[in-house]
Amino acid sequence: MKELKKAPIGVFDSGVGGLTVAREIMRQMPNESIVYFGDTARVPYGSKSGDTILRYSRQITKFLLTHDVKAIVIACNTASAYAADVLRAECDIPVIDVIEPGAVTAVGTTKNNKVGVIATRATISSKMYTNYLHSLRPQIKVYDKACPLLVPLVEEGWLYDGVTVEVIDRYTSELVRSGIDTLVLGCTHYPLLAHTIQKVVGEKVTLVNPAYETAKELARVLAEQNLLCENGAAVHKFYVSDGAEQFRTFANTILPCEVQQTKDVNIEAYE
Ligand code: DGL
Repeated sequence: MKELKKAPIGVFDSGVGGLTVAREIMRQMPNESIVYFGDTARVPYGSKSGDTILRYSRQITKFLLTHDVKAIVIACNTASAYAADVLRAECDIPVIDVIEPGAVTAVGTTKNNKVGVIATRATISSKMYTNYLHSLRPQIKVYDKACPLLVPLVEEGWLYDGVTVEVIDRYTSELVRSGIDTLVLGCTHYPLLAHTIQKVVGEKVTLVNPAYETAKELARVLAEQNLLCENGAAVHKFYVSDGAEQFRTFANTILPCEVQQTKDVNIEAYE
């Protein structure tokens, strides 16, 4: 059991967005090691079909399992929407997604029951957020909006750019006019734009970043299964499907630890 406790947690996303979840796991569980995979060669997932997203998620899971991970965190809303149930059924380790924790936080945040959700096109069409929110509180009115241009802007590092402000305004102005008091950042890339989004939507709208609740849920599940690593130094490893050096530079602007190396992986080989 001691060895299993020291095993790393597998975390994946289509690119850099999942680093917002990895960062939160590092903050809340400093002893836990992470193996991160960013599918930078195939980002964005948000414009792909459910079948493709599931195939990619299965390949990544297979890769992470070669690292003997003790749990998997799908740090991507799009992959959570299309692959979480299947991966849970196929894996014999815990699989945590980001959508349910995001919905729980939004319900705890809204006072007027008007909740906005911004996410990728695939996540919005899955209706997962709307369904979770309604299952938790049926009277909530959900105002959702697909924002396909935001992920490329984040991957490009344009977090505060005037163009990004303009794009966010185009996507969110209708939601704000509808009177939402809570806005779920339903894509793990978006917390990197939180400052800019908050400026555009105004202080009256509370932003929900599912990363915090996701890390809390992970801690709860690990504790329940007696898998929490309480001591020892964490070792984090980073893998991508393309552009390792660009990813490493970006990761170092986000994470509380220094990323010294990022390796390229031929993820298509994990079929
Ligand atoms: N960061 C991911 C999400 O949470 C994926 C975005 C994308 O690749 O389109 O949805």
